[in-house]
Parts: sequence; structure tokens; C-alpha cells
Amino acid sequence: MSGEAKLVLNDVSFYYGDQPALKRINLRIYANEILAIFGPAMSGKSTLLRILNRLSDLATEGRLEGEVLLDGKSIHDPDVSVTQLRTRVGIVFAVPVPLPLSIWENVTYGPLLGAGRNRSDLDELVEASLKAAALWEEVKDRLNEPATALSGGQQQRLCLARVLALEPEVILLDEPCSGLDPISTMKVEEALVALKEKHCIVIVPHNVQQASRIGDKAAFLLMGELVEYGAGEQIFTRPQDPRTDDYITGRFG
Ligand SMILES: Nc1ncnc2c1ncn2[C@@H]1O[C@H](COP(=O)(O)OP(=O)(O)OP(=O)(O)O)[C@@H](O)[C@H]1O
Ligand SMILES: [Mg+2]
Repeated sequence: MSGEAKLVLNDVSFYYGDQPALKRINLRIYANEILAIFGPAMSGKSTLLRILNRLSDLATEGRLEGEVLLDGKSIHDPDVSVTQLRTRVGIVFAVPVPLPLSIWENVTYGPLLGAGRNRSDLDELVEASLKAAALWEEVKDRLNEPATALSGGQQQRLCLARVLALEPEVILLDEPCSGLDPISTMKVEEALVALKEKHCIVIVPHNVQQASRIGDKAAFLLMGELVEYGAGEQIFTRPQDPRTDDYITGRFG
């Protein structure tokens, strides 16, 4: 889909101490699309994701250069609240970490920190979030049970539901299926494909196959450099750069 980019990176570099982890990245990320950021270990994929909701602020001796725009406005402007940014740009990690609370409480935890909402609103929010994360059917009869009793694949979808309950515009996922079996992986992927109707999704997939299955767009990172960016269909069938070709055909990495 064309139109204005949701997120724009202009010449973004990131350093840990004097070590560059990202080198002058220029990238446009669009709503209603899934962007898969892939590449070998230590190429800067997680760093790039974490910059987008300013989790990278927490890195000791981290230093950012360049500019990140969300809807045309810098996410580093002094009047931007990081808390608010993180509700607009949510993140799901590789290892699901549910809170030691019930399923219902896990989903409502974030929204309850904000403005007061009544019980029936919250019930609706829980149902909608769990449905969008493709988990509702499996847990609707046991919402008061501890989240820790769920399987790994269910916990990962619960963590996705928890992010969705905050109604983010952008969803970041860092290898969300790395510990999951193929069936759970498929469920998460199906949920993401449905979610792009309403959201902008940026995923670091756990392998090239996942990137090619769900990436409308794909970006290949290598040692902090954006080697190639384009439509997934093009990158995975007709890569322009020999380094991308070597990586996706398994010649290295
Ligand atoms: N908190 C940190 N402090 C110092 N260096 C870091 C930190 N996080 C990442 N790095 C370094 O930055 C570089 C990029 O790391 P990053 O985690 O972004 O890569 P990645 O592509 O996500 O790798 P992986 O596939 O292993 O998850 C690596 O050289 C890494 O050692
Ligand atoms: Mg990583």
C-alpha cells in the first residue's frame, strides 16, 4: 500500500560505546504491511527494533545518530512522552513472559494503568485482544486461571494480546516464534497477517522461511548495514545484491 510512511528512519546509526551496531540506515515502514527485518546474528536487527520504541535509550553507553519519525514527528522530540510512545509502538519478545496473574489480568494490566475503565469495557477489550491474537477459543472458558499454566505457544499469543490491548499503531516482534512448534508458529503468523489490516507490523523472523512467508516487505541487515530492502516477493526470489542471495540460499549465516 502506498501513501505516507508510518515510520521513517533517516540516516540512523547506533553505537554501543564506540562499536557501531547500525550504520546510516534509511528505511520507510508503512501501515497495513508486515516488514520482516532479517539477517545473520549480531547484524543489528534487535537494535533496530528497539530504537523504534526507544527501548534503546536504556542501553548503557548507547548513542543514536539520525532521525526516526512516527507520523512525520521525531520520536526524540522533547515533548514526546516515552510512555505514550510505547503504547503507540508495542513490542513482543522472543521469550514470552506473562505476568504471574490470571489470563484476564495479563490482558488488562496495561489498560488499567491508564484511565479508569469499567468491567464490561475491560471484558470486551479482553475478548477482542485475545481474538486478534488467535487465542480466544482456547482460553475463553478459563480466563481466571494463571497465565503461567498456558503452553509456550499460548503464552506467546497472550503476550501479543497484552500488547494489542493497548491498541498500538505499530507492533514490533523480535523472533516471537523462536521457541514455538510449527503449529503455534502458524497460529502466530495467521494472527499477524490478520492484524496488518489495522496495524503496522515489524518483525524479526526466526528464519528466512518465516520472513518469506509473511513479509510484504523485507530488509536484509548485515553487520549493521542495510544491504537490501524491497518487496518480500522480490527479495526472496530475485535478490539484487549477491550478499542477500548468498544468505537466503544458505551459503552463509
Ligand atoms: N546492550 C548492548 N551493549 C553492548 N553491545 C550490544 C548490546 N546489544 C547489542 N550489542 C551489540 O550490537 C551488535 C548488534 O546486536 P543485535 O542484538 O542488534 O543483533 P541481532 O541482529 O539482533 O542479533 P541476533 O540474531 O543474535 O539476535 C552486536 O555486535 C552486539 O554484540
Ligand atoms: Mg536479536
